[in-house]
Amino acid sequence: MYQIVRKQTLAENIILMDILAPRVAKHCLPGQFIIAKTDEIGERIPLTICDYDREKGTVTIVVQTIGAGTSRMMSLNEGDALEDFVGPLGCASELCQEKNLEETKKKNIVFIAGGLGTAPVYPQVKWLHEHGVDVDVIMGSRTKDLLFYIDEMKSVAKNVYVTTDDGSYGFAGMGTDQLKALVDEGKHYDVCVAIGPMIMMKFVCILTKKLEIPTIVSMNPIMVDGTGMCGACRLVVGDEVKFACVDGPEFDGHLVDFDQAMKRQQQYKTAEGRAKLALEE
Ligand code: FES
Repeated sequence: MYQIVRKQTLAENIILMDILAPRVAKHCLPGQFIIAKTDEIGERIPLTICDYDREKGTVTIVVQTIGAGTSRMMSLNEGDALEDFVGPLGCASELCQEKNLEETKKKNIVFIAGGLGTAPVYPQVKWLHEHGVDVDVIMGSRTKDLLFYIDEMKSVAKNVYVTTDDGSYGFAGMGTDQLKALVDEGKHYDVCVAIGPMIMMKFVCILTKKLEIPTIVSMNPIMVDGTGMCGACRLVVGDEVKFACVDGPEFDGHLVDFDQAMKRQQQYKTAEGRAKLALEE
């Protein structure tokens, strides 16, 4: 069993949990994910690692209620335990690997975090900062109340630009609008990392293609079992078929077929929605 040592509400329907899982904490790297299960009958929930403390043996996850499994997880409190916490899974971020560090140091990097995407972006920005690479971060959400981790991000990034679709905080507009504004002002980026809702990543890639900025995306949103067996995360990347959970989650965003991936994600949402209804009955 894996104890919940901290639970904090970040925004409506979004919570953060520190889970005591020393083995995962010892080996995980930014970009990887875990599979959590609340109890014996609970479904397997893939969640990106948001932070980790190797000394305390804890792994931080951020959970948003989207279905029955996440609702059940949300109802647990500090002192309760998860039945399963398997990981680290998936490939670590290419930018956050010691072997690539010299190359990474030469690049101007911008991250675009949309909504819950802030959670997987944070450990990458933190790792880069700790290794002498300071990056710009654009954090966007629909509205002010859904923003989280602004201060934490500011403590590890060179510049943080906050955007809200409704203009209730920071720049009024989307992450893509902010990126375009920065480039128009003369900023130059060699790499963009976009993590967030699929539709956001799709539009970031349309823009960065025009701006000729190579772009990495994280295809976490389409995972279901996270083991390479269910097929839910199957993706077309260029001429190849890939599985987000084993080959990714990061891919070259300019090669991903987002329309096909979004269709697959819709099927998953329908199943989640049905499960949620059953839970509420
Ligand atoms: Fe099931 Fe990748 S999430 S195969």
